[in-house]
Amino acid sequence: MAIWRSTISTLRCGRIGLVLAAVVTAMISQAGVTFEAAAVLPRERISLNDDWRFAKNDPPGNTVSLIYDVRPQGRGAGRGPGEQQAAAPPAEPAPPVLKQWILPTGNDFVKDPAKKAVRPAGNPGEDVDYVRAEFDDSSWKRLDLPHDWGTEGPFTTTGRGATGRLPFYGVGWYRKKLDIAQADAGKSIFLDIDGAMSYATVWLNGRLVGGWPYGYASWRVNLTPYVKPGGVNQLAIRLDNPENSSRWYPGGGIYRNVWLVKTSPVHVGQWGTYVTTPEVSAAGATVTVRVTVDNDSNREANVSVATQVFALDDSGNRTGTAVASIASAELRVGAGASAVTEGQGIVAKPRLWGPPPGQKPNRYVAVTTVLHDGKMADTYETPFGVRTLKFDPNEGFFINGQHVLLKGVCNHHDLGALGSALNYRALERQLEMLIEMGANAIRTSHNPPAPELLELADRMGMMVLDETFDVWLSRKTLLDYSLIYTDWHEQDTRMLVRRDRNHPSVIMWSIGNEVGEQRQGEAGAAIAKELRDIVSEEDPSRPVTCAMNSARADSPFSVVIDAIGLNYQGAGRGDAAPTYPVFHEAFPDKFIFGAETASTISSRGEYVFPVAPGTGLIAGANAGEDTARHHMSSYDLYFPSWAASPDKEFAALERFPFVGGEFVWTGWDYLGEPTPFDTSRSSYFGIIDLAGFKKDRFYIYQAHWRPDLPMAHVLPHWNWPDRTGLKDEAGNAVRTPVHVYTSGDEAELFLNGKSMGRKKKEPYQYRIRWDDVIYAPGELKVVAYRKGKEWATDTVRTTGAANRLLLEPDRAVIAADGRDLSFVTLKVVDKTGLIVPRSVNLIRFEIAGPGEIVATDNGDPTDFTVFPSPDRKAFNGLALAIVKAKRGQRGTITVTAKAEGVAEARAKITTK
Ligand code: GAL
Repeated sequence: MAIWRSTISTLRCGRIGLVLAAVVTAMISQAGVTFEAAAVLPRERISLNDDWRFAKNDPPGNTVSLIYDVRPQGRGAGRGPGEQQAAAPPAEPAPPVLKQWILPTGNDFVKDPAKKAVRPAGNPGEDVDYVRAEFDDSSWKRLDLPHDWGTEGPFTTTGRGATGRLPFYGVGWYRKKLDIAQADAGKSIFLDIDGAMSYATVWLNGRLVGGWPYGYASWRVNLTPYVKPGGVNQLAIRLDNPENSSRWYPGGGIYRNVWLVKTSPVHVGQWGTYVTTPEVSAAGATVTVRVTVDNDSNREANVSVATQVFALDDSGNRTGTAVASIASAELRVGAGASAVTEGQGIVAKPRLWGPPPGQKPNRYVAVTTVLHDGKMADTYETPFGVRTLKFDPNEGFFINGQHVLLKGVCNHHDLGALGSALNYRALERQLEMLIEMGANAIRTSHNPPAPELLELADRMGMMVLDETFDVWLSRKTLLDYSLIYTDWHEQDTRMLVRRDRNHPSVIMWSIGNEVGEQRQGEAGAAIAKELRDIVSEEDPSRPVTCAMNSARADSPFSVVIDAIGLNYQGAGRGDAAPTYPVFHEAFPDKFIFGAETASTISSRGEYVFPVAPGTGLIAGANAGEDTARHHMSSYDLYFPSWAASPDKEFAALERFPFVGGEFVWTGWDYLGEPTPFDTSRSSYFGIIDLAGFKKDRFYIYQAHWRPDLPMAHVLPHWNWPDRTGLKDEAGNAVRTPVHVYTSGDEAELFLNGKSMGRKKKEPYQYRIRWDDVIYAPGELKVVAYRKGKEWATDTVRTTGAANRLLLEPDRAVIAADGRDLSFVTLKVVDKTGLIVPRSVNLIRFEIAGPGEIVATDNGDPTDFTVFPSPDRKAFNGLALAIVKAKRGQRGTITVTAKAEGVAEARAKITTK
């Protein structure tokens, strides 16, 4: 039986080692040689986020073709059947295209030398004003990156809702002047872009440097041949983001961080380290470090490479002296070539990386130094972790020898009202809330995440299923990745693995989501195998999966992947039988897990009657839908035809304990895919709404995933004046079902002090329900028990009218760095301070002091007020203002919220 075991760890990136231009005064001991490092280390990694100029569209009257490649015309299906091949380009003669100049940017990620692209002669775009140094861009918009040009809106009310109704598409230009000092002459200079949406082309000083089409990739262009040291260098970047290219909101713009990297010509290559820990015991961990050294000079270089390992503290700072050393290796690196060296060291009594609450995410950093002719040429930091993984076909997933159920969620990359523009704090907040719920894993559906997600996951102990693609050659939308699959799948796959393989949080790779190739027999399987093999070449230490919704257990597709990741079909779609046992029988030596589960839909604070029995119903006019207002009932019992309730998946996982766990669709709501109401702007799938407010569903997961946390949660709210004394057609009093999610095993419900009965959770039941309650205003209280002892209580009360507003910042002190955020919750409350459930008051947010309101939201998928608006209706009692401190300005920000007929609220936020 093949049990997937791996003791690899990590990868690099992140805050650590961002800028290595630190003045080094310490004596660095390397391979027995002690030397004093020169004043400034040669590697610098400088944030290039600030002060860009931006304009939408190409220059007026431009006749030069700047397109990457000819695109097929037409609109094509939004959620296609997945069987269509990539659309063929139109038959008419093609205009000149830039593809041949862009492809060489990916050459380091193409294995076969014969397949590396060769740059043609010529300099496309040189006649376009926007690439020229002398072009006056002073009238362009001034902004800082990361930037998403779609978030400002407006929302469109026509067309389909799949991509979020925001104008993320079209052409956008970014320009920035780079100061490159004379002292940088002779250095290698790179531009590193963590993500640009999409089809980026980069020019420096009017010369086309390169680019990258896939909007989720992180990539580097080499500026060295085009740089003018000792002067101003003009950078110009054009993006060309197709409209009909995604099944969700992709965003548009340079939406992730951008870096300028300067190194000596002999240096560690891009993502040029690979750290694994092939043997781990309590006594010691073997740390293997493979280093790729690039020599950009025109002379052969003699280099020595050594690595020291240090422990990191919880904030990622190095502590103490080195805990392991990897002795120096001598290398010869040919002119313009690369060479690889590998060495091993032992970390005694390693502190392991693992997910809380059972384990701690301890981290280390490998500090690699490169000497060239005896002089310091480079220092490179690789954060990593030591842990063992076991993927057992019969017993599930183990980390560091401990069985851990994968309690995962799938998330898209957008950050709600902030769009797709990466913000560290917004992402951290997402993970904090997921951890509070008991989640221990996240699937980066369906694309490479921002590097910061992995850095946060490493630090916080979240495990990651790292995914490359939503489509291969079989398209889902007309202009999706299928157009460039043939030319770019290898580069985009190697890129992801090289970038992310040192992160201890990454436990598995996914090469795709619900690709049409699942249903294409041997031909589809061959594509899967190619991708799987590429991943394993870059990282043999982790299993490779592919999320399968329709592949059958007897199809050749599952044969070629290491781990069986099932979307929905595992627990059984609709009335269909579960396929977990079918796949288990067909593949007794493969690990199986739910790669995508549930897809329950709900709107926070909305309840629709009657309430479905059992584990729920496919959503419809008489099943959970408020068809007039386009909301979904929050009883958490409704889902599309392919999906299920949380309850059903929990039961399947308990019945089939060989299954390693699940990744729920989705942790957070996201822009786009507003199933079942295509007219809306954002999804109903999230456990947490788009603004970051918990739906009831949060608590059914918390109850099940954090069994040791005493908690109970009762629903619905208890303001039903229209149900008081209400009778059905037969003259019977209508029922208002009350459901309770608790980590206890029993509960008693009281309505106005009268017991509605004490009930036990039966096997395979995850909620306790009183479906016969007749509404009367007052107090609904639940007392939960565990093993007969009182365990937790929860109460909802009928509230009075809205009386005043409350403002609650999630953080009262934020950094004055122009990036840190405070998420300020607004509550509409009655006289006694209870949130008034149905209130939709129009709120006006105002701000004074050194801060700004960057966006507002309320989590209502039907709200088309633009995100930057300071005016926002409350949705079921809540709204959100996202506040940012102005860069470099310390002081006190005052946020005020006003609404007609209620007392205003004020909150203070200090900026440091
Ligand atoms: C899945 C798909 C996801 C999302 C989800 C909605 O089939 O993989 O991307 O569309 O359905 O339920």
